[in-house]
Order: sequence, then C-alpha cells, then structure tokens
Amino acid sequence: MACHLLLVAGFAVSLAGATDHIVGANHGWNPNIDYYLWSGNQTFYVGDLISFRYQKGTHNVFEVNQTGYDNCTMAGVAGNWTSGKDFIPLNDSRRYYFICGNGFCQAGMKVAITVHPLKHNATGDGAKNHGGDGAAQEAAAAAMPGAAVWMAVLAVAAAAVAILP
Ligand SMILES: *[C@@H]1O[C@H](CO)[C@@H](O)[C@H](O)[C@H]1NC(C)=O
Ligand SMILES: *[C@@H]1O[C@H](CO)[C@@H](O)[C@H](O)[C@H]1NC(C)=O
Ligand SMILES: *[C@@H]1O[C@H](CO)[C@@H](O)[C@H](O)[C@H]1NC(C)=O
Ligand SMILES: *[C@@H]1O[C@H](CO)[C@@H](O)[C@H](O)[C@H]1NC(C)=O
Ligand SMILES: *[C@@H]1O[C@H](CO)[C@@H](O)[C@H](O)[C@H]1NC(C)=O
Ligand SMILES: *[C@@H]1O[C@H](CO)[C@@H](O)[C@H](O)[C@H]1NC(C)=O
Repeated sequence: MACHLLLVAGFAVSLAGATDHIVGANHGWNPNIDYYLWSGNQTFYVGDLISFRYQKGTHNVFEVNQTGYDNCTMAGVAGNWTSGKDFIPLNDSRRYYFICGNGFCQAGMKVAITVHPLKHNATGDGAKNHGGDGAAQEAAAAAMPGAAVWMAVLAVAAAAVAILP
C-alpha cells in the first residue's frame, strides 16, 4: 500500500519535472531568428525535451556535431526529424547541435544547447524539483507514526466513552 503510493508520487514528480523547450518560443523553427538568444534564456537538464515547430516539408531538423553546426554541413550527423512538430528527448549531459538540413541553416536555422546533469542525484531517483521524491518519502514516513498516534487517540477516546456512565 505505502509502496504503491511512493511509486505513484515518484512517477508524478518525474513527469512534472521534465521541461519542453520550444525552440524559438512562439516564433518556432524558421529563418532569421536569433536562436543563440533563445537558447541563452533556457536551462536544459537531462530528461528535458527540445521541440521544433515548423512547416512540414519546408524545414526539418538534423542533429550534427560542432563542425556541422559551425559550417552548416552534415558533419557528424546523428539524427534527423521531419514531422513538423518534433519532440526530441535530451538523454545526455552534453552539447547538442541542431540545424535545418535544407539550406536554411545559412539563414540562421541552427541552435546549440548545453544539457546539464540533474542537480539532485543522491539517490539516483531522477528528481530535479526541490524536495522531489525525498519530500514525498518524508511525508509518507511522517504519515505512518501520525496514523498510529491517531489510532491511539481514537482508542483512548473510545475507552473514555465506554467508561462514561
Ligand atoms: C532573455 O529574454 C529576455 C526577454 O525575453 C531578453 O531581453 C534577454 O535578452 C534574453 N537573454 C538572453 C541571454 O538571451
Ligand atoms: C568549418 O569548416 C572549415 C573548413 O570548411 C574547417 O576548417 C573548420 O574547422 C570547421 N569548423 C570547425 C569548428 O571545425
Ligand atoms: C564532426 O564529424 C566529422 C565527420 O565525422 C568529423 O570529421 C569532425 O571531426 C567532427 N567534429 C567534431 C567537432 O567532433
Ligand atoms: C534520417 O534518419 C533515418 C533514420 O531515422 C535514416 O534512415 C536516414 O538515412 C536519415 N536521413 C539522412 C539524410 O541522414
Ligand atoms: C534519446 O533517446 C530516445 C529513445 O532511445 C531516442 O528516440 C531519441 O532520439 C534520443 N535523443 C537524441 C537527441 O538522440
Ligand atoms: C548520478 O548518479 C549516477 C549513478 O547513480 C552517476 O553515474 C552519475 O555520475 C551521477 N551524476 C551526478 C551529476 O552526480
């Protein structure tokens, strides 16, 4: 019972903790936008998503390495996405480089990001919110003796009622 509650709490925390970073915010993935400014205002953590919104067929997304990013080439290509609404999980703590693969990289469709490791890693629970799973566990732990105390209080109260004339 208690174990189930803890599992549910941990699951909810990790879902709530993942941030979806929408490239370009409401400008989306398009030419002539300064994605350097955009990425400078984001903090990426392992487990977050980066998502690209664009006209399907007109643009796309390629992950390349730094050479590819700097020079708008396919150097070090590691993946490509073409759906027009691509959610890409950031699995590792490292630099990621994304470019548009159909010529628009030269028009600024390139973004480089640094993904940071999770801050709270002591128990390897993946929680990055302050408190996170730890708080839930403490609350659950605190609830156990609390319940016992209430049972005792109720028992005393019942006994008191029973011995009343
Ligand atoms: C962050 O965004 C604000 C407002 O949107 C902007 O004024 C600021 O220059 C941005 N900072 C960076 C580092 O891009
Ligand atoms: C970009 O390409 C040039 C040659 O085209 C190369 O010399 C340079 O090293 C590349 N940039 C990076 C960061 O590797
Ligand atoms: C990127 O990949 C290309 C091709 O595999 C390689 O020649 C180049 O050294 C790589 N650049 C970096 C910065 O790793
Ligand atoms: C795009 O990715 C798919 C696999 O997801 C691969 O088969 C294909 O060759 C890639 N295309 C390019 C141009 O790299
Ligand atoms: C992260 O891992 C998932 C599942 O293995 C994969 O689909 C996704 O492409 C990976 N992210 C990147 C940026 O490669
Ligand atoms: C997080 O924990 C894992 C294993 O539990 C370890 O490999 C990793 O280096 C840790 N990361 C940080 C940032 O402490």
